[in-house]
Amino acid sequence: MDFLELAKSRYSTRDFSNRQVEDEKLKKILEAGRIAPTAKNMQPIKILVVKDNTKLNDILFNYNAPVNLIVCCDTNNTSKISIDNNYDCGDMDASIVACHMMLEATDLKVNNIWLRGFDSNKIREVLNQPNNIKPVCVIALGYDNEGYTPNERHYIRKEIDEIVEFI
Ligand SMILES: Cc1cc2nc3c(=O)[nH]c(=O)nc-3n(C[C@H](O)[C@H](O)[C@H](O)COP(=O)(O)O)c2cc1C
Repeated sequence: MDFLELAKSRYSTRDFSNRQVEDEKLKKILEAGRIAPTAKNMQPIKILVVKDNTKLNDILFNYNAPVNLIVCCDTNNTSKISIDNNYDCGDMDASIVACHMMLEATDLKVNNIWLRGFDSNKIREVLNQPNNIKPVCVIALGYDNEGYTPNERHYIRKEIDEIVEFI
């Protein structure tokens, strides 16, 4: 499958079955995150792998995904852009890592969804992380429940000339 086909085949899953993600596949997904680029190659990323859903019960609505990758950046170690008021690249770094993992999962036929509906302080508290660890997003992984079809939003995208301006 070429890259564009792969990207087009991805969709958000909002109903996971209880089938577990194979360790070999999880390893490859994490490896795709490890090799992602980061600003100044600072690699300020920490990925918390949470398989015990009871730990996330009160802090994240994850559609019963059996594996949750909480992608964080260590704010003590992110690249800051001095010519732009010390713009902090941590969120971007973590998002690229997350994107790599989401697409590797898709390639391995592991269904997934990107989640941001959480309170970072609660995540830190429940998962025992220090203040410098900033949860940026969660990639929830698993397999669709039988008969699952993507939400209608998946099919709605702006046209290319609505989002691109050639200057
Ligand atoms: C930054 C970001 C945050 C998101 N947060 C959530 C979320 O908290 N809950 C949720 O159900 N979906 C979440 N999504 C999934 C989007 O709603 C979804 O990608 C979008 O509707 C397009 O649908 P598709 O992924 O099926 O193509 C998030 C996606 C992104 C990129």
